Amino acid sequence: MKIISSVHVLSVFLSRLSKKDTLGFVPTMGALHQGHVSLVKKSLHQNSLSLCSIFVNPTQFNNKSDLKNYPNRLEEDIKLLKEIGCDILFTPSIKEIYPDGLPKKEYDFGRLDKVMEGANRPGHFNGVAMVVSRLFEIIQPQRAYFGKKDIQQLAIIRCLAAQKFKNIEIVPCCTLREKDGLAMSSRNLLLGKRYRAAAPRIYQRLLSVQKRSKNNSVSELRVWMKDVFEKDRDLVLEYFEIADAKSLNKSNNWSDSPIHVACLAVHAGTTRLIDNILLEIN
Ligand code: PAF
Repeated sequence: MKIISSVHVLSVFLSRLSKKDTLGFVPTMGALHQGHVSLVKKSLHQNSLSLCSIFVNPTQFNNKSDLKNYPNRLEEDIKLLKEIGCDILFTPSIKEIYPDGLPKKEYDFGRLDKVMEGANRPGHFNGVAMVVSRLFEIIQPQRAYFGKKDIQQLAIIRCLAAQKFKNIEIVPCCTLREKDGLAMSSRNLLLGKRYRAAAPRIYQRLLSVQKRSKNNSVSELRVWMKDVFEKDRDLVLEYFEIADAKSLNKSNNWSDSPIHVACLAVHAGTTRLIDNILLEIN
């Protein structure tokens, strides 16, 4: 596996690829888990070359301590990527990505970045769009891979690609879960024993919502979820929303859309976790 940290060196390397090559790109912030591995494997399967980037992007963190505590495991990440046969690892510094300092660019995603994660993490999606745009401009892949756990991020990236990167195919990838149902996330490494034991309740409650959606209204489920978390001493609900699975507009009735998605953000101690589940009603 080639490990490159400089934008210039990477650009020269990529410019020498054959016209027949297809390049798959998996952007990450490191602390890789099996979810990331599945993205890289999908890319390896669909492309002649696969590039994974590891860059903890400061512009998408609206909370300084969250950025400071973000897990860093570069050595383990390199070992894992080598084992699965990733071709190129790009590990730029902040200076390489933002040579003129942190940019102030503003993107327009309509209502998409005003709800759920967007409403609760001001500036987050603007920062994601900034770094993904910069990485897409440098790497110019044919395909880029994003996980469905971050369903709103996936919708934002699709919107960004439709606006600015029409030649890049955005490939959605399924959420991978631990045996107890907890969605894989780099942040799971930050959970201590107590909160790791509590965290599987998040998915269990989403499954309950899926089951209850057959016999309950959207507003009844909102109230039910709030009540369940209020009784939980270890998990604090930041938001729970039921929305149209495509537009992510808030659903008021099941008849609003053929497929809804239930999304939430939860604090387990100092660690913030998100998850979602699709609700097909009929
Ligand atoms: O999902 C992530 O890990 C990040 O938001 C991404 C897409 C790598 C951008 O920093």
